[in-house]
Amino acid sequence: MTIVVTGATGELGRHVVRHLLARGVKPAEIIAGGRNEEVLETLSALGVLTARIDYSDPSTLDAAFAGADKVLLISGSEVGKRVLQHKAVIDAARKVGAGLVYTSAPKASTSSLILAPDHKATEEMLEQSGLSYTVLRNNWYFENYNNTILQAAQTGSILTSAGDGRVASATRSEYAEAAAVALLSDQFAGDVLELGGDHAWDMRELADAVEAASGREVGVDNVSSDEHVAALQGFGLDEGTAGFVAALDANIADGLLADTDGSLARLIGRPTTSLKDYVQELIGK
Ligand SMILES: NC(=O)c1ccc[n+]([C@@H]2O[C@H](COP(=O)([O-])OP(=O)(O)OC[C@H]3O[C@@H](n4cnc5c(N)ncnc54)[C@H](OP(=O)(O)O)[C@@H]3O)[C@@H](O)[C@H]2O)c1
Repeated sequence: MTIVVTGATGELGRHVVRHLLARGVKPAEIIAGGRNEEVLETLSALGVLTARIDYSDPSTLDAAFAGADKVLLISGSEVGKRVLQHKAVIDAARKVGAGLVYTSAPKASTSSLILAPDHKATEEMLEQSGLSYTVLRNNWYFENYNNTILQAAQTGSILTSAGDGRVASATRSEYAEAAAVALLSDQFAGDVLELGGDHAWDMRELADAVEAASGREVGVDNVSSDEHVAALQGFGLDEGTAGFVAALDANIADGLLADTDGSLARLIGRPTTSLKDYVQELIGK
C-alpha cells in the first residue's frame, strides 16, 4: 500500500506521517509531499519517501501520485487559490484511482463560517469525482490559542469578541491520528465525519484553565467586533488580519464551532485531550 500525504511539510501533515509510522506502516510505503525542501529533508531522515508537491503544478501531483493507493489532501493555506489547487489534487488522484481523505471544516456544506466556502466547493468536487473518499471536518486546533494562553498567563487577561461561544477543539496530533486511521481503513469510505474535541469550551473556561495552570487570576475582556478589530490594530496587526480574527470570533459567538459528536474520540480510540490538560502542558513547558 502506498500512501501520499500532501501538506506533509506542515504541522498537521508531519503529525500524520508520525502516526502512520507509529501504526506500523513501512516508511517506504509513505510518500510525504510539500514544497518546503528543508522540511522534506527532515522527513526523509525518518526513512519515508518524499516528493515535491505543489498544488498549483499538476506535473508534481502526477509524479507524486503514480502508484498511490491512498492520498491525504490536507487543505491548502492559500485562501482564494485553494479551490483550483484542490481540484488539481482530486484530478491527479482520479487518474490513478487512489482513495482520498480530505481535511475540511465543521459543517462545511451548510456553515456560514468564513472559511467554509472553499471547503464546501472541495467537498462538492469530491462528490462529483467518482473517487472513493472520506471527509474529515476538523474543528479548531487547541494550538490556535497558544499565544492567547501564554499571554493570558503573563497579563491576566483574555481579549475576545467570541462572547459565550464555544469551541470543540482538539490537538493537531489528535486530528492527524484520525487522518491516519481513515487512511489505513476502507471502513470510512463515503463518510463525512465532524471531528472535534469531546468538550466544547467557552472563553471563561479557557481563563479558568489558565488560572489553574499559572496561579494567576485571569479576566475575560469580552468586546464588540469593532472594538476587537481596533484593539488588534493597536497591537500592530494589519486591518485584514485583525478583521479576520474578529470575524472568526463572531463565527464562534454564533455557535459555529460548538458542536461535537464524539467522532474524533471514536476514531482515535480514547477521549480527546481536555482543555485543562492542554493548557497545563503548554504553560508547564
Ligand atoms: N482546524 C484548524 O484550526 C486550522 C488552523 C489552521 C489551518 N487549518 C487548515 O489545515 C491545514 C493544515 O494545517 P497546518 O497546521 O498543518 O498548516 P501549516 O503548518 O500552515 O501547513 C500547511 C501545509 O499546506 C501546504 N501547502 C499550502 N499550499 C500549498 C501548495 N500550493 N502546494 C502544496 N502544498 C501546499 C504547505 O506546504 P509547504 O509548507 O511545503 O509550502 C504545508 O505543508 C492548513 O493548510 C489549513 O487549510 C486548520
